[in-house]
Amino acid sequence: METKETSPQICIIPQPAHSEGLDGFFTLDHETPLALRNVDEDTADYIRGFLNTRLGIDPPPCRDAEGGGTNRIVFTLDENEAPRGEGAYRLTVENGCIRACAGFRTGLVYALQSLYQLIALYNGSGGGGRQKKTVPHIRITDYPRFEWRGYMLDVSRHFFSVDHIEKQLDLMALYKLNKFHWHFTDDHGWRMETETYPRLMDIGAWRPDRSGAPWKQCRPPQKGEPAVYGGYYTRGEMRHVVHYAARRGIDVIPEIEIPGHCSEVLAAYPEFACDDFPYTVQTGRYWPPKAILCGGNDGVMRFLFDILEEAAGIFPSPYIHIGGDEAHKGNWKKCPKCQRRIKERKLKNEEALQGWMIREAERHLAALGKKSIGWDEILEGGVSKNAVIMYWRDWKGEGRIAEAARRGHDIIACPASHCYLDYSECKDESGREGTGRYLSLKKAYAFEPLPRGLEGNAAQHILGGQGNLWTEYVYTPACAEYRLLPRLLALSEALWTPPDARSWEGFAGKLPLHRECLSSLGYQFHRLSL
Ligand code: ACM
Ligand code: ZN
Repeated sequence: METKETSPQICIIPQPAHSEGLDGFFTLDHETPLALRNVDEDTADYIRGFLNTRLGIDPPPCRDAEGGGTNRIVFTLDENEAPRGEGAYRLTVENGCIRACAGFRTGLVYALQSLYQLIALYNGSGGGGRQKKTVPHIRITDYPRFEWRGYMLDVSRHFFSVDHIEKQLDLMALYKLNKFHWHFTDDHGWRMETETYPRLMDIGAWRPDRSGAPWKQCRPPQKGEPAVYGGYYTRGEMRHVVHYAARRGIDVIPEIEIPGHCSEVLAAYPEFACDDFPYTVQTGRYWPPKAILCGGNDGVMRFLFDILEEAAGIFPSPYIHIGGDEAHKGNWKKCPKCQRRIKERKLKNEEALQGWMIREAERHLAALGKKSIGWDEILEGGVSKNAVIMYWRDWKGEGRIAEAARRGHDIIACPASHCYLDYSECKDESGREGTGRYLSLKKAYAFEPLPRGLEGNAAQHILGGQGNLWTEYVYTPACAEYRLLPRLLALSEALWTPPDARSWEGFAGKLPLHRECLSSLGYQFHRLSL
C-alpha cells in the first residue's frame, strides 16, 4: 500500500509523536463488532459508553474474542504488544480493522480519544451524525513528552457546578490532559465540604450577590446583607468528580491555600487571624490580599492538619497543593503570637515563619502518604527538597526554575506569561471585562516547560506544565470555555508532542476542524485570531 509522509487526514491535537497517513478508508457502522482483549470491565464499559455517546454506535461484541479477522474494532490491553509507558498507545486503521493497543488503561483511553478525533474531524458534526463513518487509514504510535499535563480551575472567585466540571474533564480527556488542579479555597469563597469546620460551609462559602457588576467595582459586603452567592462541593460530589476524572485518565489535585488568600476562612473563624479586623468573604477586587492565618496560633496548625487529612481521605492523588503564593506578612510583623513563634523556633524572619508552616504541612502530608505542591513563593521560606514547586512568576526568571530543579525539586511549569488562560486572547474583546493582560494563541503554543540549558537528571525534575484559569473575570461556564478554547489545545500540544513533531503552522491548520467539532459538542470557542 502506498504511504504518504503527511496527510490532511491527520488533524489530531495534540499531534501524535509518530503518525503516518495511508491511502484508503475503513467504514464503521452500527454492525461493526468490537473485541476487547484483556480489558477490565470498567474500562470496557467506558469504551462502550464513549462510542455510544460520542459516535452514536453500539457495537455488537466480536464473537471471535481474540479479535482476528477483518471488519472489526479491536482494543487490546497488553504490555508486551504495546509501546512502553503509561500514556503510550498504538492505533492503526488498515487491512480492514481498527486496532488500538496499550500497556496501561490510560494509553487505551488516549487511543480512544485519537480514534474519536480521527472520525469526528473527518465526518463532521462532532462524529455523531450519520450511522456510517468513514475512518481514514492511518498508523499512529504515540506517547506523551511530559507526565504532568494539567489544567487548574479556580472555583472560589466564581463557583462552577459539577456538570460544568464534568464537561471540562471531558475536554481535558479529549486533548490528553491528565491533571485537574481544583483551586478550592481563596478569599472569595471556601468550596470543599469538611466535617470538622462547619462554619466554612455556613459562612465561608457564601457572599452577597454582585452579579452584573464589574469585578473591580463590586461593593464590599454590607452589614446585614444576605450572603447568597457561592456554594461548596459535598464529599459525595468530590468523590464523584474523582471517579469521573479517573475513568478519563485524569488525577484530581485539590488545593488548600495557606497561609494567605484566606479572607473566607477568617470570616468563618475570626480566631485564626492575628488581629480582630472584621474579615468577610470578598465580593470583588481584593488587593493587596492582606488576610493571613496566624502563624503563631496552634489552633491554626490543628485546622490545617485536619483539613489536609480530610482532603487526603477524599482525593487518591499522591499530591495535595498547599498554595503559598502572595502571602502578605504585614499582620505577622505586628502579631505577638507570630513573633513568639519566630523566636521559639529560631526563625530568621516572617518569610521563614511561612517556610516553617509549609514544612509542617508537608510533614503532615508525608505521614499521610502524600506529596505537597506549592506555588514558587514557598522557595523563599525554605522548603524540603520533597516539595514540588509550581512555578508561575515568569518575571523571576527561567534561571530560578533551573536552579530549583538542580537542587532536586520536581517542578510544574505554569508561567503566567504563557499559561494564564484568564488573560485576554486578543486586544479586542468586545467589552468583556478582563485582567488587562494578554496571552495570544501563538504565544501559548510556543510554551516550553524545559528551561534552556537544563539537561540530564535535572531536566527529569521538570514534570511538565499546566494552564491556569483564575476566575475573577470568568462569570459563567460559557465564559470559561471562551477563555480555554482554543488556548488549552495549544498547551496540550506543547506538553504532549515531541518538539520535532510540532509546528505552529500545522497546529493552526488543524484548528478550524476542531472548532467545528467542539461547537457540535456544545463548547464555546473564542473566534480564531490566528
Ligand atoms: C498566582 O497566580 N497567584 C499563583
Ligand atoms: Zn499572628
